[in-house]
Amino acid sequence: MLQVENLNAHYGKLQVLHDLSLTIRDGERVGIFGHNGAGKTTLLKCCVGDIAQISGNIRYHGEPILPGQVHLNVRQGIGFVPQGHNVFRELSVAQNLRISGLMHDPAYAETVYGIFPILKERSVQQAGSLSGGQQQMLALGMALMTRPKLLLLDEPTTGLAPIIVRDVLASIRSINQSEGTTVIIVEQNVPATLQQVERAVVLKSGRIIFDGPSQQLREQENLWHLF
Ligand SMILES: Nc1ncnc2c1ncn2[C@@H]1O[C@H](COP(=O)(O)OP(=O)(O)O)[C@@H](O)[C@H]1O
Ligand SMILES: [Mg+2]
Repeated sequence: MLQVENLNAHYGKLQVLHDLSLTIRDGERVGIFGHNGAGKTTLLKCCVGDIAQISGNIRYHGEPILPGQVHLNVRQGIGFVPQGHNVFRELSVAQNLRISGLMHDPAYAETVYGIFPILKERSVQQAGSLSGGQQQMLALGMALMTRPKLLLLDEPTTGLAPIIVRDVLASIRSINQSEGTTVIIVEQNVPATLQQVERAVVLKSGRIIFDGPSQQLREQENLWHLF
C-alpha cells in the first residue's frame, strides 16, 4: 500500500501540491489526470522521493519514502518511468534490457519480450533507431527489468499514434494482471486510459478534485469541466 498523507510540495516559493492525501492499494491500476501544471509529475516524483522540498508523509508498505533519496527508495520495489523515451540510444534493445536488469535477473528479459514481442524482433537493433512507440515500450521494459512492485509512469503515450497509444496502454494493463504490479499512470489520453485503469484521480492546481472508479469519470457528463 502506498500512503500519501497531507503532502505539500514546493519549488522554492511556489507551492505545487496542497495538503494532498491519497492511498493506493497493492495491485491497483490508477490513472492521474489534470491540466498541464496541475502537479501530476510532481506527485509522481514525490512518490519516489525525487522532490526534496516537501512536508507530510509518504509511506510504501509502511516504510517512509525519503525525500531526495531516490536511490534508496527504489530499493523498496518502485519503478519510475519519467516522461520521454529514456533509453540508451547507442545500445541495442537487448543491451538496454540487460543493463537495466543487472542488479536483478537478466533472464527476465524473456518475460519482457513476451509482453512486448516487437522488442524481441528488434533485439539487436540500436534503441535510437526504434520508432517512438517502440522506444516507449523499451523504456517500460527497462523499468520492468528492475522487477518493480509499484510502477509510476509519466505520460508514456505522449507523441504516439492513436493505435500505438492503445497498444501501450493495454500492455500496462497486462503487466498489472500478469505480474500483480501496482500501476500509477499520468496521462493526457484520458478516454483511452480510462479504459485500462480501474480508478481515476483528477488533480487541479495541486489538489484532488475527483477520486473514484474510472467508470464514474467516464460517465460524468461534465468530465471536461473538471480539467
Ligand atoms: N523544477 C521545477 N522548478 C520550478 N517549478 C516547477 C518545476 N517543475 C514543475 N514546476 C512547476 O510546478 C507546477 C506543477 O508542475 P508539474 O508537476 O510538472 O505539473 P503537470 O505534470 O501536471 O503538468 C507547474 O506550475 C510547473 O511550472
Ligand atoms: Mg507532467
